[in-house]
Amino acid sequence: MSDTVTSRLAGFHKLPMEERLAQIGRMFRLSEEELEQLRGVGTLDPVLANQMIENAVGTFSLPLGLGLNLNVNGRDYIVPMAVEEPSVVAAVSFASKIVRESGGFVAEADESMMIGQVQVSNYGDPVKATEHILDAKEQILALANSFHPAMVARGGGARDVEVRILPAPEGPRGEPLLIVHILIDTQEAMGANLINTVAEGVAPLIEQVTGGKVYLRILSNLADRRLARATCRIPLRMLADFDLPGEEIAEGIAQASRFAEADPYRAATHNKGVMNGIDAVAIATGQDWRSIEAGAHAFACRGGQYRPLSTWYLEEGHLVGRIELPLALGTVGGPIKVHPGVQVALKLMRVSGVRELSMVFAAVGLAQNFAALRALGSVGIQKGHMAMHARCVAVTAGARGGDVEKVANLLVKAGHVKVEKAREILASLLPDTPGVAATVTNG
Ligand code: MEV
Repeated sequence: MSDTVTSRLAGFHKLPMEERLAQIGRMFRLSEEELEQLRGVGTLDPVLANQMIENAVGTFSLPLGLGLNLNVNGRDYIVPMAVEEPSVVAAVSFASKIVRESGGFVAEADESMMIGQVQVSNYGDPVKATEHILDAKEQILALANSFHPAMVARGGGARDVEVRILPAPEGPRGEPLLIVHILIDTQEAMGANLINTVAEGVAPLIEQVTGGKVYLRILSNLADRRLARATCRIPLRMLADFDLPGEEIAEGIAQASRFAEADPYRAATHNKGVMNGIDAVAIATGQDWRSIEAGAHAFACRGGQYRPLSTWYLEEGHLVGRIELPLALGTVGGPIKVHPGVQVALKLMRVSGVRELSMVFAAVGLAQNFAALRALGSVGIQKGHMAMHARCVAVTAGARGGDVEKVANLLVKAGHVKVEKAREILASLLPDTPGVAATVTNG
């Protein structure tokens, strides 16, 4: 795919869905089959679903939208997002437009270093046990790498062994915990399976050198050696909106950031906004989003208090935003090569590898957070949210086709976005729309 792809598709949201698909199909030279995957027709074959999990009875779908305008490190990205919450896709696109006009996001990501944990008990003296493990480091690494020769050949594999002694949760009378960390570069994979194989594989050797007994052997989802970071710098004048000067909007965002830094109750909601964007891209691109969530929130607590993953402050006439979080992503493994919809989503992302993917994810999280704070720190989010929510309410009340927009607009105008009100409005439209009568009558 050429690098002339732009994520700035003016008027895209106003096109009918088929025209959006046609435009994307031309841009990415998608086959009819790939377009069908985006459309969602047969995205996941039930036969495949049955092979993926137990007790399968079918498949489950979500709306798939495209986040636009994103520019990261000078490159444009169109971001597939699978999400049920209205306004997530619009918010990312809106925020990314402002940021691209300010020079775009700058992002970086660490190499794919993951942690496998081995818990040792009954090891005797913790200092001696630690020494024995570290003395056997090369042997442990060689054994670890013997389980994944292909990964080692590609330049990945086990890199280091660390030992942590943790205080016993029961207090001084309990045995301190001895935890061995195997650091593994999983390259393009998220790596859960291969890390677990290594952790289980090296356990007998660790038992042998410590004389202890190994219990748990599993990866850690706190992937803090695999962080991604994104920043943006927006001139204050570009923030003017809602009849408010840019300075005031920026101040609202900086105050929201201070609030989240000081208060875990607010930080949880702040980070939920970040994850609105990240989870949506994670689902569309076949990532283990529970692992990403677990890692992000554990990382947010690393200093002993739950804090925001992103911060915003004013600096020399600019609003500056920064985000840092663990992102254990993959471009291979898991459902990635199995799920045909994921394949098309990754094709749209056009990333050369997992580190670039992580940079885009971080930028999406920061964009999503910016859009939320911009509204929260000024006019509030309900106005915008209600307009989107009204469409859902209209559909729930039975509106279809052109009536959805009509009913939604009237609901917002009435300032009463409720299903009963939508039914009332729909009934008043009925003489012009005989098709709706059946829908409503049928409940
Ligand atoms: C809603 O899904 C997300 C927000 O609550 C995020 C935030 O408060 O920052 C709007």
